[in-house]
Amino acid sequence: MLIFYHSINNFNNLKIQFWLQYISNLLYCFRTPQLDSEMIISYTVQQSRTWIYIFNNIFLSTSQIFLLNIFVRRRINCEPISYIIKKKEFWSCVFRISKYVLIPRKETEFLVQEILKRINMYDSVLDLGCGSGCISLSIAHERPYCNIIGIDSSLKSITLSKKNAKYLNINNVYFFYSNWFSAIKRKFNIIVSNPPYIHEQEIVYMNKDCMFEPCGALISRNHGFSDIEHIIKYAYIFLFNQGFLIIEHGWKQKEMVNFLFKKYNFFDVMSYFDFNGYYRITLGKKVY
Ligand SMILES: C[S@@+](CC[C@H](N)C(=O)[O-])C[C@H]1O[C@@H](n2cnc3c(N)ncnc32)[C@H](O)[C@@H]1O
Repeated sequence: MLIFYHSINNFNNLKIQFWLQYISNLLYCFRTPQLDSEMIISYTVQQSRTWIYIFNNIFLSTSQIFLLNIFVRRRINCEPISYIIKKKEFWSCVFRISKYVLIPRKETEFLVQEILKRINMYDSVLDLGCGSGCISLSIAHERPYCNIIGIDSSLKSITLSKKNAKYLNINNVYFFYSNWFSAIKRKFNIIVSNPPYIHEQEIVYMNKDCMFEPCGALISRNHGFSDIEHIIKYAYIFLFNQGFLIIEHGWKQKEMVNFLFKKYNFFDVMSYFDFNGYYRITLGKKVY
């Protein structure tokens, strides 16, 4: 036991309430030590956070303390809590997560919200770079009659998205491998993407958590614009008339993204603020 050391003489005599406080103290330098502590303990005992408060006078077993030690060490090394507990809440669902996919972000919920404002009951949607499946499955959860396809160039991502569809009991999303549009053979009413858009040199300024996330999900060549431009350029071919493309991008990329939408013949191009007041989403319509 590296972390749970000297000061504790008898580990087996310690109740959940002790561990909650102890781990929270160990994680004091993180943003949410109390919440992290609750999530790690509830994952270890495989119970909800409410349960650990109701039964906080229960003793943990030796094997549970052993696991707890591993999880806390990983968190101290800055590994994101979602990779440790292998799940993340997004929109109104809980998604299984693995280290091979991006952890769904709060900002991306804004993308889902903007789509739900505009989508019709039987629309078709293409989600490019589905990751854990969080965007397509959240839309499907709200609109069970829509026909949705999610693609990714990572096979691990496709496998995880399919598992998430199964856990969430969602039957109107089909996931398969595609290098952006390479395997797409039809048109859609809506194309959505949260593509990689970080400039290689910017990664060093990012939150330490991001170091644990797959580079292929974050970084894009050409100052972060390579994938964005590819998607905008070809989306036009795969949209029905009056259909729209909506993408997430970096807060400094609005001007360039607007320019690219117009360059590739999109109309009514609009950028939207996210919950933090940054322009993080741009939408354009296909009209001819
Ligand atoms: C920023 S992540 C977004 C994941 C998920 N949609 C979300 O919002 O959490 C970008 C995703 O694009 C995928 N991707 C990168 N290059 C790709 C390509 N050439 N074709 C298809 N998917 C790609 C990555 O594997 C990753 O899952």
